[in-house]
Amino acid sequence: MSFKKDFMWGAATASYQVEGAAKEDGRGLSVWDVFCEKQGKIKDKSNGDIACDQYHRYEEDIELMAKMGLKAYRFSLSWSRILPEGTGKVNEKGIEYYSNLIDCLLAHGIEPFVTLYHWDLPYTLHKRGGWLNEESPEWFAEYAKIAAEYFSDRVKYFFTFNEPQCFVGLGYLSDIHAPGINGPDRDAFTAAHHVLKAHGRAVQVLREYGKQPLKIGFAPAGKYTYPKTAAPKDVEAAKKMMFDNIALEDWAWSVAWWSDPIFLGKYPEAVCEKYKDILPAFTQEDMDLIHQPIDFVGQNIYDGRMVACGDDGEPYFVPDYIGAPYTTINSPVTPEILYWMPKFLYERYGKPVIITESGMANVDIVSADGQVHDGSRIAYLESYLQNLCKAADEVPIDGYFLWSLLDNFEWAHGYQGRFGLIYVDFRTQKRIPKDSAKWYQTVIATNGGCLHR
Ligand code: NOJ
Repeated sequence: MSFKKDFMWGAATASYQVEGAAKEDGRGLSVWDVFCEKQGKIKDKSNGDIACDQYHRYEEDIELMAKMGLKAYRFSLSWSRILPEGTGKVNEKGIEYYSNLIDCLLAHGIEPFVTLYHWDLPYTLHKRGGWLNEESPEWFAEYAKIAAEYFSDRVKYFFTFNEPQCFVGLGYLSDIHAPGINGPDRDAFTAAHHVLKAHGRAVQVLREYGKQPLKIGFAPAGKYTYPKTAAPKDVEAAKKMMFDNIALEDWAWSVAWWSDPIFLGKYPEAVCEKYKDILPAFTQEDMDLIHQPIDFVGQNIYDGRMVACGDDGEPYFVPDYIGAPYTTINSPVTPEILYWMPKFLYERYGKPVIITESGMANVDIVSADGQVHDGSRIAYLESYLQNLCKAADEVPIDGYFLWSLLDNFEWAHGYQGRFGLIYVDFRTQKRIPKDSAKWYQTVIATNGGCLHR
């Protein structure tokens, strides 16, 4: 069992979660700045105003990444730092920041992986209807063009969207995330369709204005399943549950609703049938736009549910065993998912897979020796990566991005869901690489060899 020679070992973050400097150097407001001000939305009443202050501390962070031996860093651009009004005038200071960040990464031999959109829509665009506005794909194309023009000489890997499932599902169908619209499915379907068109436009623009041949993908989420056993009937049951049995209230969370149009050029028929009365009209032209060729299947994968085939031949969810482990943000610990999902994704979409996020929220405490001994995270990561390694023998897997480089602003959970390889004391901004960072360094140095014991 082994990973390919040039396997991309990385870590990931996102602009609003780590940058801070929310009101500096001309950055415009995003929907998250405004959402955090609403009463009761963020568990610890915090926001991303300062976060990990990476805006000012990126050099220190990159030093730490280099020490860990990271081959790649996935981060997102803040649209409103680059275009404070969402469209129109470019903020040179924003460009300068990302340019410096990219140069510093490259100087340390770390490949930059840029996500264009990790949920922080410029607030001015939200006031114009946000993703409900049919002009939104063109707004996004304008922004993508700027990213291509300024950064693609040095950045080869671009992701259009991070987890559209989440910002549409939690932002337009419930008010758990920004922009906090508890709207009807009809509107959320429209927003989702615009997001997919925006993805297609961005791919076109990145290809047209890219200063080198670019590698482009997106980084979706989803509700994942894995089979109870490797028996073909259980495997088929798990796939059926995930790709076909999309519950009525679950369309926004499905892999297929977002990835089928992108990779296969069509929406899943079963969902279209169920929702035919409230779906917007999809033209063939739209579908062709969405179906731009991209280079890999990115997927953020944290957990899944076990499925088996019942005596009646139908798939069912296998209940958890008593005492099954859950992380501090209530995510089940299911390492098998990193074996089965890459296989399912490759089989359905036929492109090399990149795990664009995976990791664990934990209670991390600084010990008396000043270190953070996060043994349970190491156990978590080890079991997940062993599964990924097994999958890498069967299907092409190009990389893995651990979420996250640093403890950071975990959206509605505030700062209470610590995911980092590096501990951040948010009172002082002091960084302490946790035991897991040292462990990950060995994983990278041995290209996963140390996982076999
Ligand atoms: C997915 C999201 O992309 C990221 O922003 C979030 O912090 C992690 N999952 C952990 O929940």
